[in-house]
Amino acid sequence: MTASTHTAWDGLILGASLATLDAPRGYADISDGALAWRDDRLTFVGPRSELPDAPHRLAREVIETRGWITPGLVDCHTHLVFAGDRAREFEQRLQGASYEEIARAGGGILSTVRATRAADEGELLRQSLPRAHALIADGATTVEIKSGYGLDFDNERKMLRVARRLEQLGISVRTTYLAAHALPPEFAGRGDEYIDAAIEWLGRLHVEGLVDAVDAFCEGIGFTPAQTTRMFQAARALDLPVKLHADQLSDLGGAALAAAFNGLSADHVEHTSLASVRAMALHGTVAVLLPGAFHVLRETKLPPLDAFREHGVPMAVATDCNPGTSPLLSLRHAMQLACTHFRLTPEEALRGATVHAAKALGLHDRGVLRAGARADFVQWNIGHPSELCYWLGGPLATAVHAGGHRVR
Ligand code: NIG
Ligand code: FE
Repeated sequence: MTASTHTAWDGLILGASLATLDAPRGYADISDGALAWRDDRLTFVGPRSELPDAPHRLAREVIETRGWITPGLVDCHTHLVFAGDRAREFEQRLQGASYEEIARAGGGILSTVRATRAADEGELLRQSLPRAHALIADGATTVEIKSGYGLDFDNERKMLRVARRLEQLGISVRTTYLAAHALPPEFAGRGDEYIDAAIEWLGRLHVEGLVDAVDAFCEGIGFTPAQTTRMFQAARALDLPVKLHADQLSDLGGAALAAAFNGLSADHVEHTSLASVRAMALHGTVAVLLPGAFHVLRETKLPPLDAFREHGVPMAVATDCNPGTSPLLSLRHAMQLACTHFRLTPEEALRGATVHAAKALGLHDRGVLRAGARADFVQWNIGHPSELCYWLGGPLATAVHAGGHRVR
């Protein structure tokens, strides 16, 4: 290295163990590590003993620490922009009403649609900010956010604009267009016409740069495989990647449909068949596990976890943060639930919230600690990475960096 690069690093952290995840399996950990960055990129990840020069000659700021550093967590499935809450529905469900019954009676997603339509953009941002702050506090540096509570052009646009505005917190936001989430009352009985309208809005929102991917809710209480297919064809025509709420409450072959469109991910996947697992493996479609919704809905049907492992389908873990089925404000807690409910190993859960989650968003520059990757990383006050999946709550993250800047 030349002398000029020696003084070029913005920061250098010494003494922590690094869970780099930069290998096909294991934590790929480094003890007494050194991690450096310049601008928004990591410039050195290795043992302290391999630093090319004395620390103070390498970086403007040198920090001695302990504990562990992991890649910044990637929450690859959220609906965190919404207004109001559905705590009353939670009570109804505890008294025996099912999620589907509440939805068919005009509650559920549509009750959040009413609240979200009633809020102006500033109000929607104000209500969404604390949720984004909470995710960051527990280590999230990239967050995917879906529309789907607007269900008309102006309100879908408002949601996507608020999602983009959350980047003001210093994190990366990926937006997903989910107008095919529920049928709004003004289109009652006219699902196909609604899909026509939603496809037309997609084109306009894409022109505004508001859409990174396209999703749909393929389900008895959502949209049919044929309607989902039309939405995906529209996405393909615009060169936008797709992902799908698939096989959550029943098996409509959603995961295989997502795979057939080279989908980035099929999400929920509790009822996914072996044939669909094979299709996902063939097309590199990630299985996004959402144990928060599974937990809150007190589901019992497990996703085909062993089949995913056997066929090499990468498993991601996300919060599904939403007011109905998963009011979950910590990706680390989602990892905990993935271990307890789905018996993921803590290592699988961490990989699921970093490497595989990044893949589920089509992002190839993050999810690992490696020179050249984005400088997204979290310092944790723990003695071993398994603790990330062990503690239920608690302030474990001591610092969160996104793009080389401290965001917490
Ligand atoms: O991922 N399943 C559909 N969508 C959300 C729930 C949205 C809601 O109930 O508001 C989910 O679980
Ligand atoms: Fe969801």
